[in-house]
Amino acid sequence: MTNTSVLNTGIRNARNVSRYLYGQGAIVDLAGIIANRRGTSTAPAVFFIDSFFELHGLPQKLDAVAHDDHVIYVDTINEPTTDQINLLKNQLVKVCKETPCAIVGIGGGITMDITKAVSNLLTNGGNAEDYQGWDLVKVPGIFKIAVPTISGTGAESTRTCVMTNPSSGLKLGMNSDFTVYDQIILDPDLTRTVLHNQYFYTGMDAYIHCMESLNGSYRNAIGDAYSDQTIRLCRDVFLGDAMMSDENRAKLMVASYLGGCAIATSYVGVVHPFSAGLSVVLGIHHCVANCIVMRAMEQFYPEGYREFWQMVEYQGVAIPEGICRDLTDEQHDRLYESTVIHQKPLINALGENYKDILTREKAKEIFLKM
Ligand SMILES: [Fe+2]
Repeated sequence: MTNTSVLNTGIRNARNVSRYLYGQGAIVDLAGIIANRRGTSTAPAVFFIDSFFELHGLPQKLDAVAHDDHVIYVDTINEPTTDQINLLKNQLVKVCKETPCAIVGIGGGITMDITKAVSNLLTNGGNAEDYQGWDLVKVPGIFKIAVPTISGTGAESTRTCVMTNPSSGLKLGMNSDFTVYDQIILDPDLTRTVLHNQYFYTGMDAYIHCMESLNGSYRNAIGDAYSDQTIRLCRDVFLGDAMMSDENRAKLMVASYLGGCAIATSYVGVVHPFSAGLSVVLGIHHCVANCIVMRAMEQFYPEGYREFWQMVEYQGVAIPEGICRDLTDEQHDRLYESTVIHQKPLINALGENYKDILTREKAKEIFLKM
């Protein structure tokens, strides 16, 4: 797919997750990791856990939670906002007598991103919106641990945590080396209960990250190797039978991690900016929004487009259609603005003069294809 041995135009001094632990049942080791962090101190640990597990329970009892720790269940109906991050940070400042020894995110992209953002805010001060952009975080956050329970977003390995600022409409993360997790625990047992369509939408986020990255102009050979392997694993999972078998869930968990590493060395492309537009203006969640955007991506990614729809058909997944057909001119204007604001990925995909290609009319035509 790629010929990349000499490419070196991406992020050159890339940061990876410091430690990872992988394997069925690996979540049991969380207790030991936190005990090590705590040492002889009385500092609490903070756990952000997807509210799904408040109702259904985790496959293993969480022995990691001690008496003075704080467990906060995260509602994942809406994607994170800067206001929500600020609120959570303020709440923790009030209840924690000491600086937490660790902050743990157990859940999907939303929960993992909230964990990263709150960790950074607790040590950097100020508000979440002060750090939306590239390399604005000044000092390391609280030691952060991710335990993903769905695979694909790569939030466990990227250097960003996406959030929307409701007043400016800006959907942008804290892109920083300090946003990268210090420890991740990849336990494929945790994705057993994910719903069929959601498993597909989220898994395809990894595929799309790498397809965009491999078609961009900011590349490096290591990022390309991560991307190639991610795409290979996604093909095994989504063009094979039983996409949620034990083996395939394990493969997709690896694909998600590697896909996150890939975009930590590079940028995404056209799909993610359009997807951000759908999230900001219509409130559509990231991963399903990506899949909707793929309806209109044949002109930019002909090969990826063909393969994506082959996977959709093979897995019998429903992708929403026609969602931009009845929008007002004002909504189309907002969609355009919240798409073209994503300069780095659009320059990566289309060049410095991307606005000559993505005119207001062209963007509307693309949204109407969705
Ligand atoms: Fe994504």
